[in-house]
Amino acid sequence: MTSKIGPANGKIIVAPSILSADLWHLGQDVQTVREAGADWLHVDIMDGHFVPNLSFGPATVKSLNGRAQLPLDVHLMVRRPMQFIASFAKAGADMLTVHIEAEDDIKEALLTIKKLGVGAGLSLKPDTDPARLEPFLDLLDLVLVMTVQPGFGGQSFLPSSPQQIASVRQAITQSGRRIWLEVDGGINAQTAREAAKAGADALVAGNAIFAAADPKKALLDIRQAATI
Ligand code: DX5
Ligand code: ZN
Repeated sequence: MTSKIGPANGKIIVAPSILSADLWHLGQDVQTVREAGADWLHVDIMDGHFVPNLSFGPATVKSLNGRAQLPLDVHLMVRRPMQFIASFAKAGADMLTVHIEAEDDIKEALLTIKKLGVGAGLSLKPDTDPARLEPFLDLLDLVLVMTVQPGFGGQSFLPSSPQQIASVRQAITQSGRRIWLEVDGGINAQTAREAAKAGADALVAGNAIFAAADPKKALLDIRQAATI
């Protein structure tokens, strides 16, 4: 993979989601999490079809590229990812994650991402059977396990999540490949620990960081709780 998102070396990755940042001062919020030790920046893209919400587009990624000084982990919650992959790659995405439930040919989408020199991720909604990952494992740099129904920040980590994470961890281990297992939705210090115990090595957190009185402390608490 030619992106800046490299191997974990046992460290838990924390990826703050700017969905919960205050866009009035996005640059300042990004700087705060970078200074607190954020590893990646998670950028949620919503098209109003795959999920009932809208968020950012390639222009947002382009503004962050270079200036954020963090790898850009772009989560495409869109029905037709093929339409957007090239624009996000050009804008500076380091990882592009598509949903396995999207309506395009998933293999083609992953191959397109890789051809553009970007890390390729595949995401599962909470009710999606992890067995569906199997045909794609050879192409993946990351699996993103959704631990809430995608679409909105600030929801609660679903109780079924540790089981889902553990199944994905097992599939990754069996593949013998180095693939990140990222968890997204309702992550705070408590659920970060549950996710890490179940096998996560990268954690997305939006509300728990950006809505906290002290975002730096919130980020450090999440990392500490997940370091087991
Ligand atoms: C939800 C998004 C998440 C969201 C997480 O659809 O994919 O990345 O920002 O937010 P919290 O951490 O608030 O659940
Ligand atoms: Zn996300």
